[in-house]
Amino acid sequence: MPSAAPRTATGVNPMKRHLISAADLTRDDALLVLDTAEELARLADRPIKKLPTLRGRTVVNLFFEDSTRTRISFEAAAKRLSADVINFSAKGSSVSKGESLKDTALTLEAMGADAVVIRHHSSGAPHRLATSGWIGGSVVNAGDGTHEHPTQALLDAFTMRRHLSGPGRDLAGRRVTIVGDVLHSRVARSNVHLLGTLGAQVTLVAPPTLLPVGVETWPCEVSYDLDGVLAKSDAVMMLRVQSERMNAAFFPTEREYSRRYGLDGTRMAAMPEHAIVMHPGPMNRGMEITAEVADSPRCTVVEQVANGVSIRMSVLYLLLGGSESAISAVRPEEGR
Ligand code: NCD
Repeated sequence: MPSAAPRTATGVNPMKRHLISAADLTRDDALLVLDTAEELARLADRPIKKLPTLRGRTVVNLFFEDSTRTRISFEAAAKRLSADVINFSAKGSSVSKGESLKDTALTLEAMGADAVVIRHHSSGAPHRLATSGWIGGSVVNAGDGTHEHPTQALLDAFTMRRHLSGPGRDLAGRRVTIVGDVLHSRVARSNVHLLGTLGAQVTLVAPPTLLPVGVETWPCEVSYDLDGVLAKSDAVMMLRVQSERMNAAFFPTEREYSRRYGLDGTRMAAMPEHAIVMHPGPMNRGMEITAEVADSPRCTVVEQVANGVSIRMSVLYLLLGGSESAISAVRPEEGR
């Protein structure tokens, strides 16, 4: 495959050509994405939020699964970089007539897609797209089955850095607790990889039935006792119970689940004063999180959405050709 990987001013390849898994990111890759996102986030404070960086490039959002924030976030990110955006959702397309991923990919290639952002119900679909030779552009995984969701982990790390990090925005030693349906969560898997790379200490808390086989080999701790870990957490990330992926009963009742693994006001009060509550959305209020916690100023859910746009701008910029500082590369008259 042709190598169109962007290079930094120092000549170091900043990222691979595709972003499939948070596990593929080195510490330097991850820091480059986070730092570039910081730079790009400053744009959000300008009256005109647009940069001409990706003018003439085409980004396709290829969504085979429902999504609200991830799809509009990628769309906003691409548009703020002046790329042309094509939104493709499987519902209402020829995919519902049985068209294969291959034929869909060949169609996108014929349209000249420079990047394909894909969300798919099958784990491994983005990897297949990136390695098949069907398309020449970059592939970005926007969530594949229960496997990975790397831009979510990056935006979560970005949010944690803004609230928790010390000098140099370092997350090393920070304690992050991830609670709930880990088994079905691509968000948890990507976060465990990325936070491990960044030196944070992760503890997963879930009922034994909602932990994946082999979790003991992951670079994290596991606990079944939420109350035992809250006081030691700098961030508590609540996961949605993903009923749409459940083909069996994983816990007795919703009430029982909330009682043992839900975050309510009393539990939140047991967290250190500086600690934040995170959630990737969509939230099931009353299930894994009470409305009181979801609406509290300690909950960063809305901020995570805003940060997602900066992270996705950074990823698209770095994959599609950023070779200098994201903003200083812009001529002043274009940046206004
Ligand atoms: C997550 C996802 O789709 O994996 N949501 C998201 O991308 N913001 C988590 C979820 O659906 O619960």
